[in-house]
Amino acid sequence: MKKTALVTGILGQDGPYLAKLLLEKGYKVYGLLRRYSTPGFGNLEYLGIEHDVDYIEGDMTDESSLLSIIKNTRPQEVYNLAAQSFVGSSWEQAKLTTEVNSLGVLHLLNAIKYFSPTSRFYQASTSEMFGLSHENGIQDENTPFHPRSPYGVSKVYAYWMTVNFRESYNIFASNGILFNHESPIRGIQFVTRKITDGVARIKLGLQNELRLGNLDPQRDWGFAGDYVEAMHLILQADTPDDYVIATGETHTVQEFVEKAFAAAGILDWKKYVQTDPRFQRPAEVPMLKGRIDKAVKQLGWKPKVSFDELITMMVKADIERLEKKAR
Ligand code: NAP
Ligand code: GDD
Repeated sequence: MKKTALVTGILGQDGPYLAKLLLEKGYKVYGLLRRYSTPGFGNLEYLGIEHDVDYIEGDMTDESSLLSIIKNTRPQEVYNLAAQSFVGSSWEQAKLTTEVNSLGVLHLLNAIKYFSPTSRFYQASTSEMFGLSHENGIQDENTPFHPRSPYGVSKVYAYWMTVNFRESYNIFASNGILFNHESPIRGIQFVTRKITDGVARIKLGLQNELRLGNLDPQRDWGFAGDYVEAMHLILQADTPDDYVIATGETHTVQEFVEKAFAAAGILDWKKYVQTDPRFQRPAEVPMLKGRIDKAVKQLGWKPKVSFDELITMMVKADIERLEKKAR
């Protein structure tokens, strides 16, 4: 019998990488699609799996759709990746962010409780929950939360609701507290992809400046392809639990910029980068750096792709994409 999994957020960055991994492991994969006049399957196409997923229509804000999906499919594993995941928009759309990221999780957990209590549940929690909080410059599973954005606040609710369903109803519900992870199919608004796409355009003479916000924040950046392996391992553990998934290294946005330009053979990056207050945030998370001892010990997980390899991969993919478009 094939194992079955439901993946929400199937059209995003992580959904396609996770679906590919699960398909390779022989799973039947259901992907939750919200109603769109023209849904974008580009990320699934990029990974060559757009015809291999079973799509089901539903929306995280529509509890009845989630109740019937869980009732009809009873998947062994549910990976909740759907979210309004762009921190920058969460101040302007705080209510929507809360409805999708907080109440949406409650809807899904309730559906599991009523119709499929043996389903294992993965919640896409985030290092944004730590916000200002750290101990000696590092965050792990014991670091208290101090979120800095409506997005971070919404994810703290979802984190605790996941823990609460585990403790109240004995549901196998786990949180992956993932630090920033990127790839060639990262959304274009996020800083890494905005930089690699901008660098590629500058390299090809299609653009002559890159406008960014604050270059000082530090992030612990890994590769999405490595991080979806951790999601899967979290649901294969003997008991449900919460894990930090990161690289343990931190770099400033400026370092990412310098290395991305260098990867395209451009050394005078300052000539092209402009600071634009439109991209600054009302409250910033200054530094993220995760300690992964628990994941290494209990899951046997470690990241494989280095910071430099990630940047080279993304710059190369963006240059190739633009060259292909121009042909
Ligand atoms: P992403 O690219 O923004 O994808 C999010 C997905 O959620 C999109 O496919 C989107 O659908 C879907 N979605 C949004 N609102 C929905 C709704 N009301 N109903 C159903 N689906 C909805 O995010 P990602 O980078 O893949 O991240 C996956 C998850 O991990 C998110 O929960 C994010 O918050 C969390 N996370 C990400 C990182 C990271 O660095 N990437 C780190 C920690 C945690 P459309 O395509 O239709 O818009
Ligand atoms: N997006 C963006 N655009 N960010 C910029 C820019 C810009 O022009 N200029 C500077 N930054 C800074 C942001 O202020 C932030 O400090 C940092 O670059 C990273 O921004 P994002 O790439 O938008 O990611 P994020 O760290 O806010 O959030 C991502 O990671 C979280 C995990 O820590 C998202 O994927 C979240 O969904 C995820 O939970």
